[in-house]
Amino acid sequence: MKNLFYMQNRCVNMIAHLFNAPLGDSETAVGVGTVGSSEAIMLAGLAFKRKWQNKRRAEGKPCDKPNIVTGANVQVCWEKFARYFEVELKEVKLRDGYYVMDPKKAVEMVDENTICVAAILGSTLNGEFEDVKLLNDLLVEKNKATGWDTPIHVDAASGGFIAPFIYPELEWDFRLPLVKSINVSGHKYGLVYAGIGWVIWRNKEDLPEELIFHINYLGADQPTFTLNFSKGSSQVIAQYYQLIRLGYEGYKNIMENCRDNMLVLKQGLEKTGKFNIVSKDNGVPLVAFSLKDNSCHNEFEVSDMLRRFWLDCACLHHAS
Ligand SMILES: Cc1ncc(COP(=O)(O)O)c(C=O)c1O
Repeated sequence: MKNLFYMQNRCVNMIAHLFNAPLGDSETAVGVGTVGSSEAIMLAGLAFKRKWQNKRRAEGKPCDKPNIVTGANVQVCWEKFARYFEVELKEVKLRDGYYVMDPKKAVEMVDENTICVAAILGSTLNGEFEDVKLLNDLLVEKNKATGWDTPIHVDAASGGFIAPFIYPELEWDFRLPLVKSINVSGHKYGLVYAGIGWVIWRNKEDLPEELIFHINYLGADQPTFTLNFSKGSSQVIAQYYQLIRLGYEGYKNIMENCRDNMLVLKQGLEKTGKFNIVSKDNGVPLVAFSLKDNSCHNEFEVSDMLRRFWLDCACLHHAS
């Protein structure tokens, strides 16, 4: 029977390889299992803050006003990170018809106090992938011109288990040099029940050693970098099982199937002539829509009716 620590490390290694971490043959990946993407993001954010502070101190510069640049479409966990860990959140505004972070505007907002730019692979609002490659390229230029080395974090809560399987050519991960850490939710497209997320760092140097605690309560050295210490083992076991059981081909088949379903649903909605589609075909396999201006209903009514419909279906199914 493999122990939990082994299974967690195997998952970290598999996911790091999936995200193209630059690892040598015998090198182990740097990462940890968390309760979800929120905890993963708190840890990644802390690592960026500490690295930036250490560098500023070494240069004899002030380090009391860290900021982070994101799109205004970020999930609430980024606002939590900023408030809990005292980092100013600088949000790039969205505009009509463009619901993700504009990489050009994001890079314009970067200054010497920016600990990182966070891009989302799979916006919470419409599932759209942000252009991490363009962000990386623009930031490389800005870093060269200013002498800063502002890094990128990718919040791949949903997209991390989609893009590697159905958009393998898309460069959004550690193939881009400024991407230093990535989070993904095991309990979204990782296909595990709620309670598991992952954060992976590019290299050992990207996770300051001082944030890692070494404990030996169980008779051997165990490095730990999480907000909570104890947690249930079932989610790690389930993630390990899914990765081993399904493998690359298995996940690919499921994600392709999700995308096919998304296209059928999208075409059906379009055919009614009543909706504006605001999601993209290349993104999280979901359909986001708004109602056309001439509609006498609103989105909340649609949501309410859908809930009632599914509740009725569930009751019928239960009764039969
Ligand atoms: C883009 C994004 N980031 C972070 C999160 C937070 O993830 P979790 O619920 O795993 O903490 C979500 C959840 O919906 C999300 O969509």
